[in-house]
Amino acid sequence: MDVFRIQGGARLAGEVYVSGAKNSSLKLMAVALLAPGVTTIHAVPNIVDVTIMAELLRRLGCTVSYDATSETVVIEVPEVIEHRADYDLVRRMRASIAVLGPLVARTGAADVALPGGDAIGSRGLDMHTAGLERMGATVTNEHGYLVVHAPLEGLIGTQVFLDFPSVGATETLLMAGVTANGTTVIDNAAREPEIVDICNMLVRMGAQIEGIGSHLLTITGVSALNPVEYTTVSDRIVAGTWAVAAAITQGDITVHNANPDHLAIALEKLVTAGAIVNKTGTGFRIQMERRPTAIDIATLPYPGFPTDLQPQFIALNAIAEGSAMVTENLFEGRFRFVQELSRLGAEVRTDGHHALIRGRTGLSGAPVEATDIRAGAGLVLAGLVADGETTVHAVDHIDRGYVNFEKQLTLLGADIVRESIADLS
Ligand code: UD1
Repeated sequence: MDVFRIQGGARLAGEVYVSGAKNSSLKLMAVALLAPGVTTIHAVPNIVDVTIMAELLRRLGCTVSYDATSETVVIEVPEVIEHRADYDLVRRMRASIAVLGPLVARTGAADVALPGGDAIGSRGLDMHTAGLERMGATVTNEHGYLVVHAPLEGLIGTQVFLDFPSVGATETLLMAGVTANGTTVIDNAAREPEIVDICNMLVRMGAQIEGIGSHLLTITGVSALNPVEYTTVSDRIVAGTWAVAAAITQGDITVHNANPDHLAIALEKLVTAGAIVNKTGTGFRIQMERRPTAIDIATLPYPGFPTDLQPQFIALNAIAEGSAMVTENLFEGRFRFVQELSRLGAEVRTDGHHALIRGRTGLSGAPVEATDIRAGAGLVLAGLVADGETTVHAVDHIDRGYVNFEKQLTLLGADIVRESIADLS
């Protein structure tokens, strides 16, 4: 595994371009399963998760090619596909669960390995399975696999009320509903921009979906869908990470191919912290001319504050003026990285799903370890303002969400290099 070696103290300034959203691209690749023929998806980031999803689709019978230069994936879906997602792939990437809905819809069955817990929490699947059962499917748990069978005549449209606006459950039921018999209503649906993206692609394919972007999705089943060419929505979490990078280093970054409306609360919080944010034709510019003021945040489903930006904001609060309370409402394990941040001298106390951060005037460089994608990003941001050298270990986590992170940071003026463990020994 590689490490990032960072010398803190640089002020970041310049321009960055944001690619397509990881959390959308992976699902759009699964959506392709719903239509035999050739689907082309653009703005698919060059990350290992895309490679894993491509391998999963190949095992289901598809031919998949990915061109990293054009960030385009081409998926050829045969008339008949397999219905098993193996544990060796699902355990490497939880988003593999996205094939569940399309498999049941296309083949009437799915054997999908249970992903188990991960570094940010337990992450249940009960809402996915309860929804499919309401649509007439039988669901059993056999030898570590979720085994699903649709009725012989296919899934039956029905009303499903989600206990919580789960992104994954909304996606599963959406993809299961588009070719079901009759009308499927998903009440209390998630409305993240990535869900809207999936809906838009499905509509382009011939699906009938009303209420896109709202809590109530009404899906009228159609008999078949057509393959299409589609471009992924830009990655709001990557854009938000750049925004924090500007704020924490008192820098000036212009972020291209970003939709500031998808980051409304996060950018508003940064303005409260003292940043100047202006929309541009292609995204936004963020400038920070003083030490940030500490800001309280509470993570919530979209349009609330995104949990995937929580570690980056904890890093910001660690060097801010004053104290802040950060409340994590989605993933119970997300504060694990706080111990790593403390190694840099951050003063953070956690109690259940609350973290109290007392801002320090500076941090002190040290070796730390990334525990997941966003924790890794938070640690890099902290390293940028820490005194001396910070080495961030296990950067393969960061690579899963940020393409060429260290190269882009270098272009903005950061002193950061990637080293392989072999170079260190
Ligand atoms: C997705 C994103 C992740 C983001 C999250 C919330 C991907 C690959 N990942 O994850 O980056 O942080 O949305 O915006 O797109 N839950 C249940 N039962 C269920 C489903 C979910 O209890 O059936 C719980 C989870 O354990 C978690 C919460 O609901 O505590 C939110 O999960 P969900 O919205 O489904 O997130 P993911 O789709 O896993």
